[in-house]
Amino acid sequence: MELTLSIVKPDALRNGHLGPILGMIEEAGLKLVALRMLHLTRPQAEGFYAVHRERPFFSSLVDFMTSGPCVVSVLQADDAIGRYRKLMGATDPAQADEGTIRKRFASDIEKNAVHGSDAPETARTEVAYFFRELDLVER
Ligand code: CMP
Repeated sequence: MELTLSIVKPDALRNGHLGPILGMIEEAGLKLVALRMLHLTRPQAEGFYAVHRERPFFSSLVDFMTSGPCVVSVLQADDAIGRYRKLMGATDPAQADEGTIRKRFASDIEKNAVHGSDAPETARTEVAYFFRELDLVER
């Protein structure tokens, strides 16, 4: 069983989309094994997205990610990383397939409702960024 990190971003919480997004995650067979709500500080958001620090959108991304609370969770399933990326849809909602979270709820390439890990090594780092091993439940 694989683990992946999900973030339901501040835009989605502000717009009342947390419930529908968690519903889509559960309906897709991705099991929630840890979950918490938090309001990221600037250093926390900068650390999480450190790989993007040279990109032109970095400062705006950090502004956005610290603009309100978000919900971080760990999803468990066979091929959880690939399945969640498929469920999220393309980073840019204009490119996202019908029926994906970003097609339904994202407003643009930055305010794109959700984040999901992109590879096993990233997933390990990202899960550990927010959760200790003891926070993960067996279901
Ligand atoms: P996420 O999957 O969380 O990974 C990095 C985030 O940076 C991405 O979703 C978007 O929120 C944001 N992002 C990626 N590309 C761009 C871009 N070209 N312009 C603005 N924001 C972007």
